[in-house]
Amino acid sequence: MENYLTLTDIKYDQNALNDFWELIKPKVLESYNFQSDAIQNGIDKTEKWNGRRITNSELIDKYLGFGYNQCSEIKRLLGLFNKDFQLIIDDFCFVVYEPGFEFSPHIDEGRKVYVAFPVTPSDGGVPINFYEKIVHEDGGIQCGQLVETYNYSTIHPTLVDVTKFHGVKNDNNWRVYLQLDMGCDVENITFEDCKKRLKEDKFYYKGEIYEYT
Ligand SMILES: [Fe+2]
Repeated sequence: MENYLTLTDIKYDQNALNDFWELIKPKVLESYNFQSDAIQNGIDKTEKWNGRRITNSELIDKYLGFGYNQCSEIKRLLGLFNKDFQLIIDDFCFVVYEPGFEFSPHIDEGRKVYVAFPVTPSDGGVPINFYEKIVHEDGGIQCGQLVETYNYSTIHPTLVDVTKFHGVKNDNNWRVYLQLDMGCDVENITFEDCKKRLKEDKFYYKGEIYEYT
């Protein structure tokens, strides 16, 4: 079973994303209550270390007065994807893990597939781990054994199927990824659907420049 797909048709500029991260990092680290007991929803409340989603609206409204629109590389990346996805700049977010943070195996809520762009460390840091999904007769699901690890490309973005159990065990580096949620505004966008669109040449933008807002 395929858990991810490296999008070798396109490249991203890791240095440009890292420059933007360095720009917002002081405010983010000051504001996001890292190394505290108030941690991300769904994670064991006794867990000391944590990870954060840095949303566009929070950056604009609460912390910086500007958001991901200020990063020309993120705007360029947004324009690469087919307008049928109805993507907007808010579909991007940086996801920041503290040193030592372990995101235990889970299935995402609110999205089925996303695109990952590793920002720092420059080699992409620790891999993502995928686990067996055990489906019981009563429909209940359970996380099984580790089945695959993947070291992200730092040249090409990667499409990830987050309907599979996955988790990350961070090392002693800060780990920052840009994520693009596919299908937050269009229902039923799945990993398989994205693969189909890729095959049909309906995944990337073709033709005239589409003006995203
Ligand atoms: Fe996840």
